[in-house]
Amino acid sequence: MIILVTGANGQLGNEMRIVTKGSKDKYIFTDVCDVHPESLEMLHSLAGDDVDTTTTKLDITDLDAIRAMVKKNNVKVIVNCAAWTNVDGAEDPEKYELVELLNAKAPENLAIAMKEVDGLLVHISTDYVFGGDPYNTPCREDQKGTPTGVYGLTKLHGEQNIQATGVDHLIFRTAWLYSEFGKNFVKTMLNLTATKPQLKVVFDQVGTPTYARDLADVILVAIEDYKQEWNMKRETLNYSKSGIYHFSNEGVCSWFDFTKMIAEFAGNTDSNIQPCHSDEFPSPVKRPAFSVLDKSKVKESFGIIIPYWTESLKTNLLNIRK
Ligand SMILES: NC(=O)c1ccc[n+]([C@@H]2O[C@H](COP(=O)([O-])OP(=O)(O)OC[C@H]3O[C@@H](n4cnc5c(N)ncnc54)[C@H](OP(=O)(O)O)[C@@H]3O)[C@@H](O)[C@H]2O)c1
Repeated sequence: MIILVTGANGQLGNEMRIVTKGSKDKYIFTDVCDVHPESLEMLHSLAGDDVDTTTTKLDITDLDAIRAMVKKNNVKVIVNCAAWTNVDGAEDPEKYELVELLNAKAPENLAIAMKEVDGLLVHISTDYVFGGDPYNTPCREDQKGTPTGVYGLTKLHGEQNIQATGVDHLIFRTAWLYSEFGKNFVKTMLNLTATKPQLKVVFDQVGTPTYARDLADVILVAIEDYKQEWNMKRETLNYSKSGIYHFSNEGVCSWFDFTKMIAEFAGNTDSNIQPCHSDEFPSPVKRPAFSVLDKSKVKESFGIIIPYWTESLKTNLLNIRK
């Protein structure tokens, strides 16, 4: 099968390069930018010299360009790793149109292109579609979205737009994503806990971190499942597992707990890390106080075992230090 990955030079996209190495399927990695030199070094260090580091240019806001690429390469599955991911930056009123374009209209473009060839769109959404209601139990897929900011709102629009096209789709809502690539919370805290004698981190936002490699692994499992069903029918397919799924690592923590573990595993024990309230860090957006995702559906549907968050964090830190 020919599978196209968008946003291939971001955190998740680069993990897709690693987990698909040696696959029997043909993967085409696309983005609007080139692989960052640091990511290139990391890719070779983690996956060897023969990992695919090529990037075909594709802007997912351009429906004609998507259609042309799908047709030319006979693409059957798109994995959309591209998005506007700057949560604070999304609150700038001048950016609203751009954020909506990237997070809501562009996924619809991909859905239209896949619907036209009876293909599958794998899309990534976020726990930030929740948070407006004061939940204290893990959020399930059928729970009403109540975003507290523009990022979450536009990602929710993206989900709705995809579903409205009627395309076969897998939407994975994930949370607190980190990887060896790009900028993320783990890398920031690795640096801060190594250099700051004192550090305050919020303890009143609770969720679960997600190692992007684990998410990439699940995407592959899901694509294999799709291929099996497609191989049996070999025609227009209403994929039986089309829908929304929640995926993060197992467990629950606050950003404070997350930081304590990062420091402990990294041996940065000199930094005095203290819990604080969110209002001590003024932010343009109110983040969810509780956005733990219930992952029962993804585990039952795809028969997966999800690693506990501290185990995946250890793996990630070992990789960063390789
Ligand atoms: N990061 C998190 O904590 C988090 C949490 C929950 C869900 N998610 C979701 O998980 C997915 C992957 O996130 P990530 O952290 O891996 O993202 P990321 O690192 O920000 O990567 C996104 C990639 O998409 C590219 N891109 C931007 N505009 C594009 C366009 N018009 N066409 C094609 N590519 C474009 C970006 O290029 P530039 O860098 O040049 O802009 C970047 O390479 C996203 O859907 C995100 O919403 C992320």
